Amino acid sequence: MNNKIGVKILGTGSYVPEKVLTNFDLEKMVETSDEWITTRTGIRERRIISEGQTSSDLAYNASLKAIENAKISVNDIDLILVATVTPDMPLPATACFLQQKLQAFNSAAFDISAACTGFIYGVATAKAFIESGIYKTVLVVGVEALSRVTDWTDRNTCVLFGDGAGAMVFQASETDNDILSVYLGADGNHTALLDIPAGGTANPASHETVDKKMHAIKMAGKDVFKIAVTKMAESAEKAMKIAGKTDKDIELYIPHQANLRIIDAVAKKAGINKDKVYINVHKYGNMSAATTIVALDEARQEGRISKGGLVELVAFGGGLTWGGCILRIGL
Ligand code: ACO
Repeated sequence: MNNKIGVKILGTGSYVPEKVLTNFDLEKMVETSDEWITTRTGIRERRIISEGQTSSDLAYNASLKAIENAKISVNDIDLILVATVTPDMPLPATACFLQQKLQAFNSAAFDISAACTGFIYGVATAKAFIESGIYKTVLVVGVEALSRVTDWTDRNTCVLFGDGAGAMVFQASETDNDILSVYLGADGNHTALLDIPAGGTANPASHETVDKKMHAIKMAGKDVFKIAVTKMAESAEKAMKIAGKTDKDIELYIPHQANLRIIDAVAKKAGINKDKVYINVHKYGNMSAATTIVALDEARQEGRISKGGLVELVAFGGGLTWGGCILRIGL
């Protein structure tokens, strides 16, 4: 008898805030142009969280849709994982705020900090907890409200980011195995390339940290760009190898949506068929941990994934972190 526990994907959902900030709006805020932003990044507009809204509110809206799609009750959920670098507060975890909003009190709840790779780290964590028999039904959310940690006077970064959330429900299964592979990587030698320097123990909040805008996201864009291409291509290949699949088996590639030029370069380097690459960076910009799961949910709803089709997610972000996974979407 084979006792190995498999993981079934039961449902997905996503939510983006209503407020749209276009490149033309940004032209009025910093010295930039729609032409520069479009040609350098592919981004045309992004969504911005409204006043009073929090990351857990975005996560809640996405989770409700995923739970409905999964046809489960909130009481079935025994673990909530929230991947985010823009938590409601440093303490407690955004996963606990989400648990309270969902009234999913049969669950453990904690956050995962892996920047733009956060959702894939969440998939890996859900897989490990389910396969080990510790939890049966896991809600994984990728959520970000980067507009809250953006320096709106810095044209190098403020044109790049957006807010949103996506969620996926996983459940233990005796018959299905929808997570074909997961590959994760990190390199702490590059922590300084992409960070929010203040607000932690290194630089606790002070008048000085606020004056110096050290609570905003800083990025060495060019360096990040180069490593992103190499590591995302490597992640795509490794996740494929672990799953024992090739390009022809993959129906849709969903790369992290940071920059169209990075996506194109990754596809070229990894030998990925560009027609199979899903793109929504023009609508949302870089939503960090939310990007891949929002894209997957939208692709599913647009009918871009056939029942049982294989999807490969690859991402890269602050840490530096990177990773890839191959999922079977039977929804
Ligand atoms: N509008 C107009 N000009 C600009 C803007 C802007 N918004 N931003 C920068 N420039 C200028 C620069 O000042 C520079 O001018 P100079 O030549 O006079 O000095 C010029 O444009 C070129 O700037 P570069 O930085 O060389 O532009 P580049 O082509 O590298 O594009 C970008 C910058 C878009 C940031 C790119 O490097 C990039 O996408 N990097 C990767 C970002 C990423 O993937 N992050 C992922 C993780 S995010 C996370 O984990 C939260």
